[in-house]
Amino acid sequence: MHTIYMGAGFVGACSAAVTADSGHQVLAFDIDSERIARLSSLDAERIESCIHEQGLAELIIKHQSRLAFSDNPAVLAGWIEKADVIFICLPTPEQTDGAVDLSYFMRGMEDIGRLLAKRSAGKQERRVLIVNKSTVPIDAIDISRRILHPLGVKNFGIASNPEFLVEGKAIDGSIHPERVIVGAESAQDFETMRSLYQRFIDSSTVQYLEMNPYEAAAVKLLANAALFARLSFTFSAVGRICEIFPFLNYENVRRGITGDSRIGRWGFYNSLFAGGSCLIKDTEALAHQMEARGADADFLRSALAANRYQAEHFYARAANEAGYAFSGKRVAVLGLAFKQDTNDMRHSGASLIIQRLLQDGAREIRAFDPAAQETAQAVFPAAEHPRITYHNSAEEAITGSEALFICTDWPQFRALGEYIAEFCRVPYLVMDGRRMLERQYHTLAALGMQVIAVGSPIFGAQDRREDHNG
Ligand SMILES: NC(=O)c1ccc[n+]([C@@H]2O[C@H](COP(=O)([O-])OP(=O)(O)OC[C@H]3O[C@@H](n4cnc5c(N)ncnc54)[C@H](O)[C@@H]3O)[C@@H](O)[C@H]2O)c1
Repeated sequence: MHTIYMGAGFVGACSAAVTADSGHQVLAFDIDSERIARLSSLDAERIESCIHEQGLAELIIKHQSRLAFSDNPAVLAGWIEKADVIFICLPTPEQTDGAVDLSYFMRGMEDIGRLLAKRSAGKQERRVLIVNKSTVPIDAIDISRRILHPLGVKNFGIASNPEFLVEGKAIDGSIHPERVIVGAESAQDFETMRSLYQRFIDSSTVQYLEMNPYEAAAVKLLANAALFARLSFTFSAVGRICEIFPFLNYENVRRGITGDSRIGRWGFYNSLFAGGSCLIKDTEALAHQMEARGADADFLRSALAANRYQAEHFYARAANEAGYAFSGKRVAVLGLAFKQDTNDMRHSGASLIIQRLLQDGAREIRAFDPAAQETAQAVFPAAEHPRITYHNSAEEAITGSEALFICTDWPQFRALGEYIAEFCRVPYLVMDGRRMLERQYHTLAALGMQVIAVGSPIFGAQDRREDHNG
């Protein structure tokens, strides 16, 4: 089949590569020329510098004969003539009031609508299915129809196929998804999607679920809100309890809770913030849609507030518990991406911490991330932020610092305890927003350092722990 992906970001590029891997012909179209140049470079390093996803570069290079990238509208127009399915993978960011900003989505839909209306010199003989993968309001299918009909587009179907990829594991997750959800309105459109997704139908491990497009859109938003609520519970109940009772060890409590299969293991690792491009945005969007229809969204609002509080509370513990002021200090910030295995900094905990450090007059912010350094330089341009310096390794960033924040759960950060113990001079404050140095808290405190970790009372000065506590 011939498929087009409108938008070659995390979702578009990864899904396009997996669809090419399924044997289909694919065009990924994006208006960002730099992104297209990198994705079509056939150079693994350049591809990764654009989207850091394990296995993506390999698939793009392997399937180059049936996977094209373009920013050229003429190329798009050519593909529209032969397309069976067009996937919409455009950004749907949140507005300041929490509503979904549909401007990219609508503009992209208009762009393809104009081209679709010209198919076969206006005769539009070939049926095309427009499938939405962007995360959109529950009734977005009506918006799509309202755009396409006035443009004269005929002979088309609209479906919803929400994306559940997890950044950092997007390729593996897209090849072996737990579930695929297809919301469509006609038997013909369901059949088209079955042909496209035959590999998932054939798989004994994939739940292939068909429903209407409104249900599919609702499932996506509600699933993300459920994950987000779990994280908010972890931060504001499990973590907070372990911070205020000195005789609780977070890891023991976590293992005890997650030993219950009804509760499950996901989401119980404590963190300074639940970030990323989706969970906050989608929970906000759901709350906004509920309130716009007169329903009470207090539960979702509380989860959102709990997440915001978590980052503020963590940062404030430096002053409140260690009496530490960052003004004039050299502070290392390790991990800039919102989580490990990605270069995505959207809603990252590190962004919030860096902004606070800048406001509070830190003398130097010594930043390091294994993958997100280039993204960080775009988020915090050097010309505007001369106090942020970027380093080639975590060790280099730490050297000469007076305090340290760990914001991302990159596994290599777990091994930094010995380096900190050897090379950092007391007084030194460790702010561990991911519990990465868990095994070394007592050792660092014994050297005279102070350690504040999410899910533990302070270690070091003002330590309220008793001897038997780990
Ligand atoms: N990133 C995730 O983990 C994830 C997971 C599930 C769902 N989603 C949803 O998928 C959608 C896309 O997310 P993403 O993370 O891939 O976003 P992204 O910002 O990484 O990519 C979107 C791409 O669309 C391009 N674009 C914008 N306007 C365009 C136009 N008119 N024509 C062609 N290209 C255009 C942008 O240049 C960008 O490259 C969003 O609705 C998001 O909520 C994201």
